Amino acid sequence: MSLLKIGVIPGDGVGPEVTEVGLKVLEKVAARDGLAYELIPFDLGGERFLKTGEVLPAGEQDRLRACDVILLGAVGHPGVAPGVLEKGILLKLRFDFHQYINLRPVRLFPGAPCPISGKGPDQIDMLVVRENNEDLYVGAGGFTYKGTPEEVAIQTSMNTRPGVERCIRYAFEAARKRAATGPFAGLSEADRAKGYSRQVTLVAKTNVLTFAHDLWQRAFNEVAADYPDVKPSYMHVDACCMRMVTNPEWFDVIVTTNMFGDIITDLGAVLQGGMGLAASGNLNPAKTAPSMFEPVHGSAPDIAGKGIANPLAAILSVAMMLDHVGSQAAGDRVRAAVAAVLAAGSPRTPDLGGKATTRQVGDAVLSALG
Ligand code: NAD
Ligand code: IPM
Ligand code: MN
Repeated sequence: MSLLKIGVIPGDGVGPEVTEVGLKVLEKVAARDGLAYELIPFDLGGERFLKTGEVLPAGEQDRLRACDVILLGAVGHPGVAPGVLEKGILLKLRFDFHQYINLRPVRLFPGAPCPISGKGPDQIDMLVVRENNEDLYVGAGGFTYKGTPEEVAIQTSMNTRPGVERCIRYAFEAARKRAATGPFAGLSEADRAKGYSRQVTLVAKTNVLTFAHDLWQRAFNEVAADYPDVKPSYMHVDACCMRMVTNPEWFDVIVTTNMFGDIITDLGAVLQGGMGLAASGNLNPAKTAPSMFEPVHGSAPDIAGKGIANPLAAILSVAMMLDHVGSQAAGDRVRAAVAAVLAAGSPRTPDLGGKATTRQVGDAVLSALG
């Protein structure tokens, strides 16, 4: 097997702490599976910017492009103005590498704390397909009369028909794949009668964003016609936030815009036990450039440097990376090891009510890997 080139951007805050643990898990599972890889480290983030003024030098980006996949911890530094690192590194890579899908599974593992009483792992298993290359994130806008009392700021949401359609199509394909193994695979007649079904829900705001989300709705309707086996449904984003809390079991696959996807997946993270458990993949499905895997959480400056960040989101992101490179069995083993640690009840980092360190939780996952 050829050597898999993995670019690693530990980044800022808790990023390096959780990435270190994620890489140990990768090392162990790869050794067992005979997966040969090479790590290519990248020193990018707040410290480098503060020292040199560099955010993402072109040469570094070229070296990243030459990797097969990228693993990222987090970027964002209290000493750097908001947006410099987030736009200059994270969003630049998502856009330039055409990672147009941001895949964010929301799954509650048995034993992980769920803040909603009466809901458990059987009720919380959905997949959010977040559009990742358009919308308010394109950085189109500007100021007029900046700093004066008449100041005007404009920030435009860009939505293209091809960009929207490829994302929706990805969601329907994902729903088909989940049909075999996902929570709706063995749906009982009683559940069906309650309206639960294998489905893709478009989450948008067609009642207000009557241009952009009209385009989304029309593209959605047309793509849905190609998937008669998957039920199409629609929900306004505000109602979606309510429903994710009151009836999370209702959801199967959600497809949504970049901005709404960002917001609802922090809510989704809480449903699955917190920011320390939510993993994601920025996918270039055509594989014309590397895809990038990262926890949903940020650099968590409030707990950085204390060695207490939960490494499970980073570990689960490694599992998603393994899926992406065709090593699904290895990805499954990593998820099973995480599940075993959560089911055991300890060790846990403080965010999950425990006293363990990042490394102790990592070691527990390593021993659960066997
Ligand atoms: P955050 O996700 O960093 O933190 C939110 C809360 O969750 C904090 O209380 C934090 O302690 C907690 N938390 C996050 N990850 C955790 C973990 N692994 N274990 C335990 N607790 C965890 O969001 P924020 O505070 O809004 O942002 C901090 C910085 O990170 C900002 O600069 C922001 O721009 C950046 N950010 C980066 C990314 C990314 O790189 N992908 C994502 C989100 C935010
Ligand atoms: C995320 C983050 C990023 C986003 C920021 C840091 C640019 O919040 O990955 O969820 O908004 O996409
Ligand atoms: Mn976010």
